Amino acid sequence: MPRKFYITTMGCQMNEYDSDYLSQLLLQDRFEASRRPEDADLIMINTCTVRRKAEQKAYSLLGRMVSIKRKRPDTIIGLVGCIAQQEGAQLLERFPGLDFVLGTREIGRIGEVLDRVEGTGERIAATDLNKTSLPSGHLPGYFAGKVKGYLSIMEGCDNFCSYCIVPYVRGREVSRPPKEILSEAKSLVSQGVKEITLLGQNVNSYRPEEDDSFGFPSLLRELEEVDGLRRIRFTTSHPKDLSDDLIRCFRELRKLCPHIHLPVQSGSNRVLKLMNRGYTREKYAELIQRLRDARPDIAVTSDIIVGFPGESDEDFHLTLDLIRKIQFDSIYSFKYSDRKGTPAASLGHKVSEEIKAKRLSTLQALQKSITLSKNKLLEGKEVEVLVEGPSKRGRQLTGRTDTNKVVNFNHHTGSLGELVKVKIKRSFANSLRGEISSTRA
Ligand code: SAH
Ligand code: SF4
Ligand code: F3S
Repeated sequence: MPRKFYITTMGCQMNEYDSDYLSQLLLQDRFEASRRPEDADLIMINTCTVRRKAEQKAYSLLGRMVSIKRKRPDTIIGLVGCIAQQEGAQLLERFPGLDFVLGTREIGRIGEVLDRVEGTGERIAATDLNKTSLPSGHLPGYFAGKVKGYLSIMEGCDNFCSYCIVPYVRGREVSRPPKEILSEAKSLVSQGVKEITLLGQNVNSYRPEEDDSFGFPSLLRELEEVDGLRRIRFTTSHPKDLSDDLIRCFRELRKLCPHIHLPVQSGSNRVLKLMNRGYTREKYAELIQRLRDARPDIAVTSDIIVGFPGESDEDFHLTLDLIRKIQFDSIYSFKYSDRKGTPAASLGHKVSEEIKAKRLSTLQALQKSITLSKNKLLEGKEVEVLVEGPSKRGRQLTGRTDTNKVVNFNHHTGSLGELVKVKIKRSFANSLRGEISSTRA
């Protein structure tokens, strides 16, 4: 009888991509997927350590999994991903129930690691960062029934923003060869995927080793030619490397969705400098203007950190001011969190939790009103939606506009994977509601 595995994924899209890779390796080997950890012979947690909260969540989940193991002592438990990379073998000491630790670039070794754990009862920590760990192909049918897919085009990050742990847990930047990316894109499309999101910590610095004149825009142009692929997205791009050529792609490429996630992090030049971001608020605003000139309907979203060490009221007000000026479609905002080993962790003048919380809620209230007023402008308009499936409440269908806004709509026609026209009737802060007006977009 095949053994069962359960994997739970925390953190960013990279981790989701990695979990899919792990799952495919296990399915090819001797396992089948289990929906519940209680039924699994192998339990894995793919972890994130970008902020302290994410780290704590992973440890409490690990505690839960270890208690399952107490009832079923043969269960194998593995901690995978960014915490695994950061903490390594120490985790085995700290958590006696843990059988293996698999770092971010060791995923391809899962089979071998399991053989050893099962064969000899050895406990293993595999955390070499000096390799690459990306799939060389897909398990046939794995993505069947999916409309959207992720495709990792590079690993690692070389930017070392002063607050960020990612370069330490994901290693140096390595770009995948374009040929591999194209073949993975075609494989996704052949399984029914219509929309691909290209992943990298900084996609603008995509540069394959064999041809360093082939940058990210060249990759987009090749993907535009893939038959059956309807939409291309990417995340994340760094403002300091956003090129004229990429801006041109937004003007020229039909499949490239009019949405860019361009994290600004702060509106204060002083803080941006301390963050080692490599641009100013003026430069950022100019980039947005150029993107909007190239593609007037482009949606812009961003990440912002409040309470970076030394952030004054004035710095924070500059962030609010930039938010008002740019008019983002939406923002992910976070309270600054000290990460061990990053330069910002050793800066003085830490902002209190109380002030961070206050700033976060002020920022979120401002952004909510901007998001709502932007969404209101869509009422009465027709938008193009890629149908993803039934809505949360089940009575409607749900999908996203090309600008990445969620739309729930009544359906008489229109099915999974179709591009349909929907007339927006009402708008909210997190979604739009509409009615289908045509099944042909
Ligand atoms: N590579 C991507 C995002 C990586 S992490 C990029 O550069 O945009 C996602 C977001 O988490 C970051 O954009 C940042 O806003 C936030 N973040 C990273 N480190 C953080 C920290 N120490 N405290 C709070 N937020 C953090
Ligand atoms: Fe972190 Fe900066 Fe790299 Fe993004 S670009 S992953 S914020 S170091
Ligand atoms: Fe978290 Fe690792 Fe992604 S730290 S945000 S899962 S790269």
